[in-house]
Amino acid sequence: MRIIVAITGASGTIYGVKLIEELKRIDKEIDLHLIISDTAKEIISLETEYNLHDIEKMVTKAYDNNNMSATLASGSFRHDGMVIVPCSLKTLSAIANGYAGSLISRAAICSLKENMKLIIVPRETPLDRTSLLNMLKAMENGAIILPAMPAFYHRPKNISELINYIVGKILDQLNIKHDLFKRWGNDKDS
Ligand SMILES: Cc1cc2nc3c(=O)[nH]c(=O)nc-3n(C[C@H](O)[C@H](O)[C@H](O)COP(=O)(O)O)c2cc1C
Repeated sequence: MRIIVAITGASGTIYGVKLIEELKRIDKEIDLHLIISDTAKEIISLETEYNLHDIEKMVTKAYDNNNMSATLASGSFRHDGMVIVPCSLKTLSAIANGYAGSLISRAAICSLKENMKLIIVPRETPLDRTSLLNMLKAMENGAIILPAMPAFYHRPKNISELINYIVGKILDQLNIKHDLFKRWGNDKDS
């Protein structure tokens, strides 16, 4: 399985890091490709205990967000899903409006044009009208909009369980089985 993970400059960079850890835990052979925007790099060091080197060590290949000649910048790079987590409103806007000014937005637009799965995890509150319309635009163009909105019905006991809920929702969209949160009801398949 080949997955692209992109981390952009929104709060909640830990979601992206935990997604990478979980994908590696589930499948040690997974082919993971990672792009971290410049602002995301700053926010990772502000918000988490992780350093860039350790995150990049977990993936097959890490790319500079300005490297427009990377393989990911072409629709011929086939994958099983691209996840932008968290996704800033700036990067959301670029994708919704077809502005391929970074490797992240270019790879996302390629995913949409090639009918490959794109999961966008926006993180902002409250939301302005333009960003809401951008979410709709991206969704109508084929993206899955999965806002970083944790639920509480599974009675989370700590921050880790709140993070796991969002990571689990992303894995659901990738059709990857996980045990990151207890599902509502008596779902025997969970
Ligand atoms: C500490 C910090 C937190 C931020 N949080 C958010 C956020 O939650 N959502 C958002 O859309 N932008 C947020 N921003 C602003 C974006 O980082 C900024 O718009 C940036 O240009 C996004 O660029 P990128 O998408 O290339 O990472 C934050 C910036 C900083 C410095």
